Amino acid sequence: MTGQLRHMLRDDDIDHDEQLEILRLGMKFRENRFYKRPFEGPKAVAVLFDKPSTRTRSSFSIGVAELGGYPLVIDKSGSQLGRGEPVADTARVLTRMASGIVWRTFGQERVEQMARYATVPVINALTDEFHPCQVLADFLTIAQLRGGVDALAGKTIAYLGDASNNMANSYLLAGAVAGMHVRVAGPNGYLPKDDIVADAQRIAQRNAGSILVTTDPEQAAAGADCIFTDTWVSMGEESEYAIRSKPFQPYQVNDALMRLARPDALFQHCLPAYRGKEVTASVIDGPQSVVWDEAENRLHAQKALMTWLVGVQRGDQDLLA
Ligand code: CP
Ligand code: NVA
Repeated sequence: MTGQLRHMLRDDDIDHDEQLEILRLGMKFRENRFYKRPFEGPKAVAVLFDKPSTRTRSSFSIGVAELGGYPLVIDKSGSQLGRGEPVADTARVLTRMASGIVWRTFGQERVEQMARYATVPVINALTDEFHPCQVLADFLTIAQLRGGVDALAGKTIAYLGDASNNMANSYLLAGAVAGMHVRVAGPNGYLPKDDIVADAQRIAQRNAGSILVTTDPEQAAAGADCIFTDTWVSMGEESEYAIRSKPFQPYQVNDALMRLARPDALFQHCLPAYRGKEVTASVIDGPQSVVWDEAENRLHAQKALMTWLVGVQRGDQDLLA
């Protein structure tokens, strides 16, 4: 196998078999935190933040270190990128020093530009459009608790709330890649863009999954294996709570909503959560909630993703299994 530079910018940058490969690696890292050490040396990985973070920051920092590497964490306020240095120039500098670039930023075009100029793998650690690392962790959580990686295809997942945000887009694409039945529900005006839905439908068809976008929260939740939600206001939208609370209320994940799902359905939330808004305390702190496993799985899933990307780049089969 010869090396190939790959990036993880959106959930459909990997295909069905590759997603399974990464999730299987994730399960191995769950069993043994030091399963593979691709960054031994240590090699550095640049981890850049243009927005706040607790989980992504800690899981990438600790994850890179556990892979034998050195995480170089740079915040917007401490970088020239934050002052307006071109993305392309930053990419060309970091690529000379680091073995990977992880970036949380605003528009998707920024990570795409980083990837165009980098000669090391670039990982999207959340943009306005996608959060692929989170959904890898979420699927690893379902695999962990509901029958393993090979049982993911065919499962029904439902996301309720702001269906126009990064999480909704990522569930649509990653669920389609996994061959799941993906349902996304939100109020009019907060539904995913047509091009994302079309991409998800095309991919779902290939993998025997399906896509449903609806304004009906009950239709989305009925019989689901896992219910997901996310904040009604993403980072930068905090001032919109006042106008969003009323139209979003029917999409709150509460006990009545959970009763529509399968009796053994899981509840997941990428966090941070706002109890009493998108989810009640009774659900997120209740018996069906697996949000702490989900948060832990960020670490295992991202270590798997980084190991896989390095394995593909080096053409090193040993890192892929
Ligand atoms: N879920 C998630 O990405 O959390 P942070 O914003 O804390 O990184
Ligand atoms: N949709 C949220 C996800 C936070 C992890 C946001 O972008 O703020």
